[in-house]
Amino acid sequence: MASQPDLPEQLTGVGATALGVALLRAQESRRADRLFDDPYAQHFLDAVDPAASPWAAASASTEQGFLHLVAEQVAVRTRFLDQTLLEAAQAGCGQVVVLACGVDTRSYRLDWPAGTQIFDVDFADVLAFRNAVLAQRGAAVPGNRISVATDLREDWPHAVTEAGLDPRQPTAWLAEGLLYALPPAAADLLLDRITATSAPGSILALDHAEDSELLRAARGELSAELVDLWQGGPTDDLTTWLTRYGWRPTVRDIAEVAARYQRPTPAAFDPERDGTGRGWLATAHLPQQL
Ligand SMILES: C[S@@+](CC[C@H](N)C(=O)[O-])C[C@H]1O[C@@H](n2cnc3c(N)ncnc32)[C@H](O)[C@@H]1O
Repeated sequence: MASQPDLPEQLTGVGATALGVALLRAQESRRADRLFDDPYAQHFLDAVDPAASPWAAASASTEQGFLHLVAEQVAVRTRFLDQTLLEAAQAGCGQVVVLACGVDTRSYRLDWPAGTQIFDVDFADVLAFRNAVLAQRGAAVPGNRISVATDLREDWPHAVTEAGLDPRQPTAWLAEGLLYALPPAAADLLLDRITATSAPGSILALDHAEDSELLRAARGELSAELVDLWQGGPTDDLTTWLTRYGWRPTVRDIAEVAARYQRPTPAAFDPERDGTGRGWLATAHLPQQL
């Protein structure tokens, strides 16, 4: 039997959230009425010693459990963001940057227009784990995918441009499962850097969510480390924040997008339930300069 790739340090701490997302994508992919198919998600879970993963106990969790609370959110956001990125690529964004990709497999599983260049960005060992698992499972490496190992707290635009991104050409950016985990100043710096690296015509897609009593309690049951996962993200609402940096945003409540896909309001963001917050999906484009 082939040996398992090492589980990187970042996937044992807060970065373990990437494996939680994979678990939910694998679960969604088994549904007859699935919103997307991620045939690789289960492979990441199979590559991890359950004793080293906080999700082993979580997968058997109750209605109050973290995974149950966010399952529909992850399904809905994945489908929405898949579609947004593909539409952006079809509309002329020849470069796609997946920030904090974790074990996201969009560069492998989506049917990109010919010539689209995809940059998957995360810590080096997270990328190494992802790529090793996919290679071990025989996934064909798309010719248009580049892994960019960097720390998003450092000068990551330099790393991405060194890897081949052309900031003079429009880019489709994805920041999924990231914003709420950043303190306000880090969120501002991230958007400042994305904007400075974007040509007019670029598209930005992201999700964001408020923390809530319900989510905090559910995270606390999983691991003490996950309790502080939410750092709040931008202090302004998403429309004000994105507009301030020159983007033209459209911000949707996650419940509205879920209804579009005939799915219930994701449990953690259901205003009918006590102790919940709100969740959003946003797309924005950078207009031509006047
Ligand atoms: C919740 S996961 C989201 C993964 C992916 N976007 C998705 O939705 O499937 C968060 C990811 O952010 C990455 N991350 C967190 N801080 C980072 C940093 N400073 N530099 C690079 N990646 C980071 C983690 O390694 C992890 O893969």
